Amino acid sequence: MSGFHNSSNKSASRAAGAETAGSKSAGKKGRILTGDRPTGKLHLGHYSGSLANRARLQEEYDTFIIIADMQALTTNFDRPERLKEDVLQIALDNLAAGIDPRKATIFIQSLVPEIAELAMIFSMFVTVNSLRHNPTIKSEAAERGYRDLMYGFLGYPVSQAADIAFCKADLVPVGEDNVPHVEQTRRIVRRFNELYRPVLVEPGALVGEVGRLEGLDGNAKMSKHLNNAIFLSDPPGEVERRINMVVTDPARIHPTDPGHPEVCTVYSYHQAFNKPFSEELDENCRAGRIGCVACKKRLGKAINDLLEPLRARRAEYERRPGDVEDILREGTARAREIAMATLREVREAMQIDYFTFQGGTGAF
Ligand code: TRP
Repeated sequence: MSGFHNSSNKSASRAAGAETAGSKSAGKKGRILTGDRPTGKLHLGHYSGSLANRARLQEEYDTFIIIADMQALTTNFDRPERLKEDVLQIALDNLAAGIDPRKATIFIQSLVPEIAELAMIFSMFVTVNSLRHNPTIKSEAAERGYRDLMYGFLGYPVSQAADIAFCKADLVPVGEDNVPHVEQTRRIVRRFNELYRPVLVEPGALVGEVGRLEGLDGNAKMSKHLNNAIFLSDPPGEVERRINMVVTDPARIHPTDPGHPEVCTVYSYHQAFNKPFSEELDENCRAGRIGCVACKKRLGKAINDLLEPLRARRAEYERRPGDVEDILREGTARAREIAMATLREVREAMQIDYFTFQGGTGAF
């Protein structure tokens, strides 16, 4: 892999609260939990925000990747039949991005019912106002034109707190838009630990160097929902086609006109995915020494070079769908075991561990 996600470059990421948070003690491997909503294929924004970091960090951390199908239902409850395919695509995107199933645990949220149980417990003391003020909830609700919010949608940060807390993750690699959810998780965990007993871990957020990637249409955010994305699974020709459609600096009509990289989406992608070139590009664009067509060509090549190893790994796994299912089955079993152990501690801390009970899902 090339560019900013070089594994030796520690400064490539900004950690928020990561140093102080968590229970990472000497000799014990820290734990990461992160993941995605299966609402479609992942794109370059996911990659620069979180996937590159998670692939890099799986070497040092015990890494958990959640496929958050319940969270996907908060907006897609009217089309649950798509989840089966989307869950598989998210698994493939993660494996393609270099997540190694021997090092990381990939699992399906809804098959770990203890997460729902923990979210229910958290919901007893999380206030509706704190959720209403969550900036990501606000902007997503506005984007989708929601007015009277669904209970599950308003509450998904609580469920996300349970996603993170059940495995006592120290660190959560996410894009900028998920930072408020990690902050909310920290507050929830702190409150739980104060109210009952300190059994849960306060996590830190780790934002990729490019916390938020612009959309192809110049929108502040790349999003499948806004139809302005390059998908990790796009073939090379499609990547080039999409880049060719991007509107560049409107002041440039001829290739020799002086450009303004700061207003150009193509330049922002060079910065994200073709860092060494972007510095000379800044000068050359301003001086009218490189035209937009040539500039886009260079970008298409850089992004296709970045995606090539992902395509190869994806193709490899696509040939073995049974293996992908095994990876998910084993990952989910491991996550479930950990969740059951945590919920046992949670119930003890709350003194609702009434008696030894083996039946049902909440064995304790
Ligand atoms: N909210 C994340 C997204 O927008 C997905 C997600 C669900 C997640 N649970 C998580 C991310 C826990 C990090 C940790 O795609």
